[in-house]
Amino acid sequence: MPPSSHPSVYITRMIPESGVASLARAGMAVRMFPLARNPEPADLLAEASHHDGFITQVGDRIDRPFLKRAAPRCKIVANCAVGTDNIDLKAAAELGVVVTNTPDVLTEATADLTLALLLAAARRLGEAERVVRAGAWRGWGMLDFLGADVHGRTLGIVGAGRIGTAVARRARGFDMALLYCGRNRHAKIEQLGARRVLLYELLENSDFVSLHAPLTPETRHMIDAKAFSHFKAGAILINASRGSLVDQVEMIEALRNGRLAAAGLDVYEKEPAVPSELLAMENVVLLPHIGSATVSARDRMAEMAAANILAVLGGKGPVNPVS
Ligand code: DGY
Repeated sequence: MPPSSHPSVYITRMIPESGVASLARAGMAVRMFPLARNPEPADLLAEASHHDGFITQVGDRIDRPFLKRAAPRCKIVANCAVGTDNIDLKAAAELGVVVTNTPDVLTEATADLTLALLLAAARRLGEAERVVRAGAWRGWGMLDFLGADVHGRTLGIVGAGRIGTAVARRARGFDMALLYCGRNRHAKIEQLGARRVLLYELLENSDFVSLHAPLTPETRHMIDAKAFSHFKAGAILINASRGSLVDQVEMIEALRNGRLAAAGLDVYEKEPAVPSELLAMENVVLLPHIGSATVSARDRMAEMAAANILAVLGGKGPVNPVS
């Protein structure tokens, strides 16, 4: 890498042009991983010591070996996501690398997608569409594609932060009763009529369970075999947060034994791998982690990541620090 007087920023995978442009306008030397996929850990390590800042995405593992090599030149890792479970925050703090995220700008888009998944799983949209596309539709039939009502049912929201609350707001429009659980009480979701209960009480009383907790060592596999035994028989699980909140093996078992009638999934434990068992199930809606994938949300995420880079490399404090 040739030495340069301009701060160097490495982007691990293409981001919207507005983010790149604001870095270039500020005189940053912007480099990018050239392939249309996330770099492997070895690719990242090879770049680690050559840049002042990195713009990363959820598929990049920013671990201690990377951060050790990146510091002290690297001052900031700006993650284009609200979640930062792909980054070793403890190592970053120890090594003096600032980590930032992109809160708020993706809240509404992700809540929209959550409702889309919920409706698709309840009303069997994936399965029905596959029949039409296969030319196998035999015309309107009273017994065809019968799904679950959404209106009037109970939605349990696990994690009542920004996205969970935005989901609750939408669910009210469907006349759903709302339960939530979380470490703290949340006034905003309670103003929407949601009642705070413990996790297992939520699972026992919800027709739909939607996960919105961040992935941390405490929340990893919070939906495990024991939790599944508390679900109402025939409940529907929606996950547009992080795959590892759920023990995927136990979820597959719950879908097989009918504890879960269906699931709507945007996220998986080892993305981009999706277990073959799930691929073979008609009652599971499978999306490729597109919760925030609207043009405006992704533009704003890229601009926010760039703004954090400009602030930190300009000697100011980060706009969206992650503690
Ligand atoms: C996030 O922001 O954490 C998402 O998963 C990416 O949209």
